[in-house]
Amino acid sequence: MKHVIVGISGASGTAIAAAVLERLKRESDWRTFLIMTPAAETTAEIEYAPGVDQLKALADVVCSPRDIGNSVASGTFRTEGMVIVPCSMKTVAGIACGYTDNLLLRAADVVLKERRQLTLVPREAPMNVIHCRNLLTLAELGCTIIPPVMTFYNRPESISDMVRHIACKVLDSFGIYENDMDRWEYHT
Ligand SMILES: Cc1cc2nc3c(=O)[nH]c(=O)nc-3n(C[C@H](O)[C@H](O)[C@H](O)COP(=O)(O)O)c2cc1C
Repeated sequence: MKHVIVGISGASGTAIAAAVLERLKRESDWRTFLIMTPAAETTAEIEYAPGVDQLKALADVVCSPRDIGNSVASGTFRTEGMVIVPCSMKTVAGIACGYTDNLLLRAADVVLKERRQLTLVPREAPMNVIHCRNLLTLAELGCTIIPPVMTFYNRPESISDMVRHIACKVLDSFGIYENDMDRWEYHT
């Protein structure tokens, strides 16, 4: 069984987190550990119609952000890595500075120190220089950074098409290749 940590922080884009969790749920050999910050719960209440409980029900294990002694806080607990989707600029700053004052930040710090896969879906617009510098620091540390930008070449017909595209990119970063992703194929 492969373990992956899914962090949801308080940026806009809860639907993308739900799409990632739904897809991981279909992978029988993957087990998800969900950490939602308090701000993520607030944002989800505002923008995710099915509700926070429905979102949490998509995960195999739900961890409290206050539970700093949780398994995922230790490098000895084997995981394939972590995705933070969406990732707020506060959480980006916390990871970039090694400021691990909640379980989500501690888990990300552990994933970095163990040199495992850390995928971020940072969401803010526009970004200021602090945001850009922090993201550069994390890119230099090897994080995969997938901003939830719109894609047009696949001719999306709905927001859920765009959400699916970003979710599939996240899964790609863990070597999980979904059949329903619109992959670019062009032959002259
Ligand atoms: C509805 C809503 C949308 C938000 N969207 C963003 C966003 O897109 N990006 C961001 O960096 N912060 C956003 N915020 C602010 C964060 O929630 C706030 O900075 C919070 O302290 C982040 O904490 P966390 O990283 O621990 O979740 C939003 C807040 C709310 C209530």
